[in-house]
Amino acid sequence: MSEIEIPKKPLKFGLFATKPHKKWAIIAICSVIIATTIDRMSVIVLRNLTDSIATQPIVFKAVWIWAIFYPILFLLAGAFWRTSGFMGLRWFMNFRLTAYQALYEYITLHSKDYFNSRFAGALTNKMGNAVDGTESVFENLLWRFIPLIYGLILYIIFAWLSSPLLGLIILIWTIVFLSVNWYFAKKIQPKSYEYAKSLSTLKGRIVDSLSNISLVHESAFLRGEREYINKYIKKQRDKGISEWQLSEWVLLTNNILIFIFMALMIGASVYLFQKNLVSVGVVVMVIAIVGELIGQLLFIGMEIKNTTKYYGEAREGLEEILTEHIINNKPNAKDVDISNGNIEIKSIYFEYNNSKIFKDFSINIASGQKIGFVGKSGAGKTTLVSLLLRHFDVQEGEIKIDGYNISEITLESLRRAIGFVPQDTSLFHRTILENIQYSRPEAKISDVKEAAKHAQIDKFIESLPEGYNTLVGERGLKLSGGQRQRIAIARAFLKNSPILILDEATSSLDSESEHAIQTSLENLMKDKTVIAIAHRLSTLKKMDRIVIIEDGKIVEDGLPEKLLNKKNGIFKNMWEHQVKGFIIDD
Ligand SMILES: Nc1ncnc2c1ncn2[C@@H]1O[C@H](COP(=O)(O)OP(=O)(O)O)[C@@H](O)[C@H]1O
Ligand SMILES: [Mg+2]
Repeated sequence: MSEIEIPKKPLKFGLFATKPHKKWAIIAICSVIIATTIDRMSVIVLRNLTDSIATQPIVFKAVWIWAIFYPILFLLAGAFWRTSGFMGLRWFMNFRLTAYQALYEYITLHSKDYFNSRFAGALTNKMGNAVDGTESVFENLLWRFIPLIYGLILYIIFAWLSSPLLGLIILIWTIVFLSVNWYFAKKIQPKSYEYAKSLSTLKGRIVDSLSNISLVHESAFLRGEREYINKYIKKQRDKGISEWQLSEWVLLTNNILIFIFMALMIGASVYLFQKNLVSVGVVVMVIAIVGELIGQLLFIGMEIKNTTKYYGEAREGLEEILTEHIINNKPNAKDVDISNGNIEIKSIYFEYNNSKIFKDFSINIASGQKIGFVGKSGAGKTTLVSLLLRHFDVQEGEIKIDGYNISEITLESLRRAIGFVPQDTSLFHRTILENIQYSRPEAKISDVKEAAKHAQIDKFIESLPEGYNTLVGERGLKLSGGQRQRIAIARAFLKNSPILILDEATSSLDSESEHAIQTSLENLMKDKTVIAIAHRLSTLKKMDRIVIIEDGKIVEDGLPEKLLNKKNGIFKNMWEHQVKGFIIDD
């Protein structure tokens, strides 16, 4: 997990993604410059051709030379344009490879909190926008803006050589034209950004809505849900109108500017011809230049608009993805082997955006101890687990495992040491085998089967037509909650780590299956430090220490038997008010 510096600005990001493939980029750019030069020279050939025809007495040899030269230039330019295409495709496809890899790597290092507060669909979109947008900006630079600007410079030189007045007109007009377009581009850019943002929000909302569509149906709230989504649909329309409208104004302005240019250039060349200051060839050349530029510039406003749109999308995507990692390896983080699983939590302070959860909270859990955390929902039990797994960092105090401060060691060495069975097991849309194997990718199939057996899920898996190769459906939706949880338990068996954390791990199991895996859970807990957050008395009875948490504080702590005998004890009270083997919240 070495941290790579990825630039956030699209242009710098583009250079970053180009760097490893710069040979293709350099050849492509050189080809474009050569092709443009040849292309623009054709107006000179045209001038010479016209002048050779107008010369008295006419020399046909000269006429023929220029007449043959003209199509040959076209062929030659074409060859260089295609070279730029063949090289450009290698540049841009490899550019995408580097860009996607870097962004994916970066995004995977974000904390749980980052993903919790964003839609996965929107993030996927943003990654796409960042890559596609930057690529399009660079493609437009290469094939539109470099030829245009460089070509204009060549035209200025050619015109100047024929008559400084003509050169001056193109020069001044170019400056005005580009400034006006630049000004508009700057104005359009925030609008494009807003539009891109409203579009990706809309997409994210639709993904969220569709992933909860069962809930929408069950709540008979289709209409309300549509209205909710409609707000976002309308918003993206409004943003789109305001962006597009401005670009129509740009087109109109450019039309007028080009009209002025045409009138000035043609008027000036005819005037110079009348005064005998230039040849007829120059007049033809000027008409050719004007014609060529109209073709290129009429829609330049559109292209600037598109490019700024891509730029805006890329900027938005990059900013969202490249926010600072909250949880990361310290520069000199050690990769250590945790084997005992001795946990010390020393007067920690932790709050989520101003909602305080722990203040001066301490607890020691000896190696091999099996501790049951009990507390009302919202007491901070899951938060404690998140802190142990370093999904969040404590704001004060420290957590040590086997004497290592967990913020000083690598995340991998910490998480390697902890087997975690969460409340909601998430599964990949991959085979059951791959899903179980995930905790130890190098595990043999026989080990996976062994783990499944321990978790009492083997018979179910074998009953499926495709057995261990069954695909589980997106997020494992084709399995019941209990089956998913047993797959998570199988994962933990396979991982066989010194620390085991169960966060209401048996909550989705019915009493029967819970009873069935009780023995396997006991096997799983053997020789491990165990933290079990549980409501089930059957699970809690097996623990050798019970800790009751209320509002982020320990209010009772001891052996289960001891707590059960404590007069007016909280645990005793819970026990007495149990419902069907469950400790209830209130
Ligand atoms: N990511 C989060 N951001 C902000 N507040 C949170 C977050 N996760 C949990 N909380 C809040 O912290 C408190 C403790 O939550 P949690 O640790 O999940 O409780 P428990 O697992 O004991 O039910 C709750 O009030 C909850 O709303
Ligand atoms: Mg919880």
